[in-house]
Amino acid sequence: MRMKHLLKMLDLSTQDITDILNLADQLKYELRHGIEHKYLAGKTLGLIFEKASTRTRVSFEVGMYQLGGMPLFLSADHMQIGRGEPVEDTARVLSRYLDGIMIRTFAQEEVEALAKHGSIPIVNGLTDFCHPCQILADLMTIREKKGKLEGLKACFIGDGNNMMNSLIVGCLKMGMKISVACPEGYDPDPRVLEFAKGNPDFVLCRSPKEAAKDADVVFTDVWASMGQEEEAAARRTAFAGYQVNAELMALAHPDAMVQHCLPAHRGEEITADVFEAHADEIFEEAENRLHAQKAVLVKLMGNKE
Ligand code: CP
Ligand code: NVA
Repeated sequence: MRMKHLLKMLDLSTQDITDILNLADQLKYELRHGIEHKYLAGKTLGLIFEKASTRTRVSFEVGMYQLGGMPLFLSADHMQIGRGEPVEDTARVLSRYLDGIMIRTFAQEEVEALAKHGSIPIVNGLTDFCHPCQILADLMTIREKKGKLEGLKACFIGDGNNMMNSLIVGCLKMGMKISVACPEGYDPDPRVLEFAKGNPDFVLCRSPKEAAKDADVVFTDVWASMGQEEEAAARRTAFAGYQVNAELMALAHPDAMVQHCLPAHRGEEITADVFEAHADEIFEEAENRLHAQKAVLVKLMGNKE
């Protein structure tokens, strides 16, 4: 069945993910070789932001332009939704102007409500629960560098946040092993744990060393996500020992990649030396946001199946 929205990784089949990654590779090739690919000519995409962004905003805006369409940046501060207009009404209004909406917000329920009440494709550009666009770009980057996904071991060291939630689901759907190490009280979302329950490829532990052992890809993310700024000091204490550093990397596979969705806090979740040693992979990951999201938009809004 054709995908209607990108709300969370849990909604995607293995085939959906493979199709997106294949199209993303094609679009990257076409861009690199100057091959025109205006698959969304005349289409408009609204970009609603209730949180800050560098990569998501720029990659969606540029991506829409490259596909022949037009992006509209819609800061929630300047919209009526920011003054309490119900999401149900916003969805019905915007569906009459736009061909698609990307939204970055706090509650996953808001994204799901836009999809329920609107009549156009909705793309989740990050919520407190998940970050599917990022994980698609990450899977694309791993496949590009390692030539495959199935059978590889990923690990994630740190907070059971939106990134960890989406990564667990994405890896398991693609036949990868995923071990995550988080301090007590910072586990992934129960919906994700329910999905992963009983899967021998999933391990949740307290020990970063155990999680990193023989990993082909090492992931981390900030200790305090957007909206958790007031918890930053307490989190620095809770996450001490959950740093990706040279000692930890020595336990991973000798050719292990490092992925970080960015922005990174050097000296907290990752040391500057590990970050710089893997900068090529990390910035390729950032670039691949563009290609992976263009693939998602073409799948959702284009005439291409
Ligand atoms: N990784 C990511 O989503 O970056 P931005 O917050 O800059 O969009
Ligand atoms: N976990 C981070 C990811 C930023 C892209 C946050 O939500 O702030």
